[in-house]
Amino acid sequence: AQHKITLLPGDGIGPEITSAVLKIIKATGVSIEWEKFHAGKTAIEKFGEPLPRAILDSIKANKVALKAPITTEVGKGFKSVNVQLRKALGLYANLRPTKSIEGIRSRYTDIDLIIVRENTESLYTGIENEITPGVVQALKVITRTASLRIAHFAFETARQRGRKKVTAVHKANIMKLSDGLFLDCCREVAKNYPDIEYNEIIVDNCAMQLVMNPHRFDVLVMENFYGDVLSDLCAGLVGGLGVVPGANLGEDACVFEAVHGSAPDIAGKGLANPTALLLSAVMMLEHIGEKPAADAIIKAVHQVYREGKALTKDMGGHASTEEFTAEIIRKIG
Ligand code: NAI
Ligand code: MG
Repeated sequence: AQHKITLLPGDGIGPEITSAVLKIIKATGVSIEWEKFHAGKTAIEKFGEPLPRAILDSIKANKVALKAPITTEVGKGFKSVNVQLRKALGLYANLRPTKSIEGIRSRYTDIDLIIVRENTESLYTGIENEITPGVVQALKVITRTASLRIAHFAFETARQRGRKKVTAVHKANIMKLSDGLFLDCCREVAKNYPDIEYNEIIVDNCAMQLVMNPHRFDVLVMENFYGDVLSDLCAGLVGGLGVVPGANLGEDACVFEAVHGSAPDIAGKGLANPTALLLSAVMMLEHIGEKPAADAIIKAVHQVYREGKALTKDMGGHASTEEFTAEIIRKIG
């Protein structure tokens, strides 16, 4: 069956890594009809707005999108496309599997963690007030609905992926009401999953434990702010943002994306590493039921990194984006 998927090639290095990923997917034999749209800077130039309505309509109809990084201009009066997409499509869960790849320089081997980040509330509501000059307050919002939903999502993810343990990350010792509510919801949901071990850890200790002893963790679930910080920390355990995938998931749509930015410093030079977007596309292929193609790509990525002959500059190699891509395609066969 042919799939129809919305494609946002983004800007900066976005189009280069997108083109690499499309070639690789094609090499697996999976047939996808891409509905391609400009968003962000390019869309502002053409349509006067960063996220034209047609993009949301397309994602809502197709239910799946692959998205490359989009430049958010600082102080130009437009809201971040990423934040707008999450809100408009109800993408309440951010899923970041963090897995070691042999051949990528990093502090640890055999890391295999899953971060589940609540994507809609906490300190990211944007509600800030100046009470009086020199005194500002920012509002952290935690709701029972969103907390139960993300806890449920974390346990379901654990069960589907055959994981053993879910850890809720919090600071309920200080934020007794807000993080207290988050924890209550996690505990409530945990009762429905007797097959999965449940425990809790305070966020600062968690940060230290992740650096010193990351293998003790399995699935971690947390509110938006802690998730933002700790998911990048986890990326750092396996080689950085250039090699970890991400997915924003909701009831009605899913957007798969690399978590790094548009890297304007290297755009157009053939230096970009497409691995993060490629692994996000692998999550997408699994999501649409194309497991064999996903497995073939993963296998090729592991082979290419293990051999270490066609790596991009950020990974210590000399290969261009195209050479790396060609090598992956050769391995797929
Ligand atoms: P960045 O991730 O674009 O770049 C940070 C550093 O990492 C740069 O030196 C860059 O060259 C390098 N880098 C990033 N991805 C790479 C790749 N695939 N291969 C090789 N090197 C890579 O972060 P920065 O500079 O803070 O942001 C640049 C722009 O990206 C901003 O406009 C920002 O708003 C946007 N951005 C967009 C995101 C998205 O669309 N999901 C996420 C983060 C930032
Ligand atoms: Mg972040």
